[in-house]
Amino acid sequence: MTSSISRRRLVGGAMAATATAAVAAPAVIAQTTPVRLNFAFAPDESGAIQDLIDGFNAEHDGQIEVSWTLAPMQTDAFFRFMESEFLARSADIDVFGADVIWTSEFADQGWLQDLSARIYQDLPTESIVGAALNSTLHRNRLWAAPWYTDAGMLFYRRDLLEEAGIVEPPTTWDELAAAARTVMETAGTAHGLVLQGGRYEGGVTNALEFIWSAGGRAWTPQTEVAGAFGMRVADANIIVINSRASAAGLAKARELVETGIMPEEVVTFDERDSLAVFAAGDAVFMRNWPFALGLLGSEEFGPVTPEQVGVARIPTLEPGRPSYSCLGGWNLAVNARTRQLDAAWSFIRWALDPERQRAMATTGGFLPTRVELYEDQALREAAPVVGLGEAAVRSARGRPASTIYSRLSPRIAAMFQRVLTGELEASEAVMRAERELQNIVAASRV
Ligand code: GLC
Repeated sequence: MTSSISRRRLVGGAMAATATAAVAAPAVIAQTTPVRLNFAFAPDESGAIQDLIDGFNAEHDGQIEVSWTLAPMQTDAFFRFMESEFLARSADIDVFGADVIWTSEFADQGWLQDLSARIYQDLPTESIVGAALNSTLHRNRLWAAPWYTDAGMLFYRRDLLEEAGIVEPPTTWDELAAAARTVMETAGTAHGLVLQGGRYEGGVTNALEFIWSAGGRAWTPQTEVAGAFGMRVADANIIVINSRASAAGLAKARELVETGIMPEEVVTFDERDSLAVFAAGDAVFMRNWPFALGLLGSEEFGPVTPEQVGVARIPTLEPGRPSYSCLGGWNLAVNARTRQLDAAWSFIRWALDPERQRAMATTGGFLPTRVELYEDQALREAAPVVGLGEAAVRSARGRPASTIYSRLSPRIAAMFQRVLTGELEASEAVMRAERELQNIVAASRV
């Protein structure tokens, strides 16, 4: 939060200057004082987001200056941080990166600017990834602009599989376990698979992939909205997690721990923990988001390089079942209380421009939200993540849009962790989760 504090100082300084000078020459002040925009987002080691901000500031020198408030890294903590800003009625943060799952809850509280008219006026909505655009929707209005998209992907050590004579990446969890076992034995790799089993939103996305890959559901099955590149469930809060299929998917996740394919510590892992193990060369497979490709081989996440790594679809429980990636991603949203809506929109337009999306993909492994960029051969070469991530984005399934999402999803995270540790049988876990979720829905009267 240091940058937030320093920004407040900056703003204070700027206001003092304005107050003194206003008496003498207000017209000059209007030209020389840039509008200060405060942007909140989590740290990004790739440097892509700093480049974005620097580029914007250079281009808008003397008019708008964006400063970056570093928000917490994990989405849950970032959510709480934004929530406390809103509850305090603060206008300190003007524009922020918003996880795709936040829209309904924040919009429902009246905390976001309605961006519908600006989006339809200034952005080619027909060429935005459908699922990403859908994630900005709440009660027929658009409350954020799709910045970059995410989909769960299976990363594998192409070099190690090849050495072990395995030519194709696995398509089922059992194939994955067999391939992992072979490589662990022949190459001495410590672990087969790492993923996000921690009790937070990342665990929810992983749990859902196990459930979906077995043909199960968690909540809101019926109403699916198809977009250019995927689909999304529109009506929330219909709880259907208690099924044989959901239990079978989760039981498979537990089996992977029990049989030593996944390390026991995976129950505390987030994205960066998994990446650290995989990048150190200690895992054959990793489930993660595209950004991992942008950091592999960096000073902090090496020595494994992107050249040693392949990307495949999330495995399924049985052969022939469709593979589902959980849709993630981040939108740009504007604080309802901002006094700088026009400047905030300038920043959003800048950030969503195809040129910037190209740069974000190339430097940071962030997947574009503009469909045509997936066809761009030069970009596919400069940023392999675009070609590798396309299939995952096309088959990504969203988490439910719910105004009580942050109350529901922690139950799924807790359930997943308890199954992974072996504390609860999968069938018992889904039964309890269904009851808990239904109680929350009933108590919330939504
Ligand atoms: C990624 C996704 C986001 C998801 C989070 C979970 O940041 O983009 O949608 O909620 O991971 O950890």
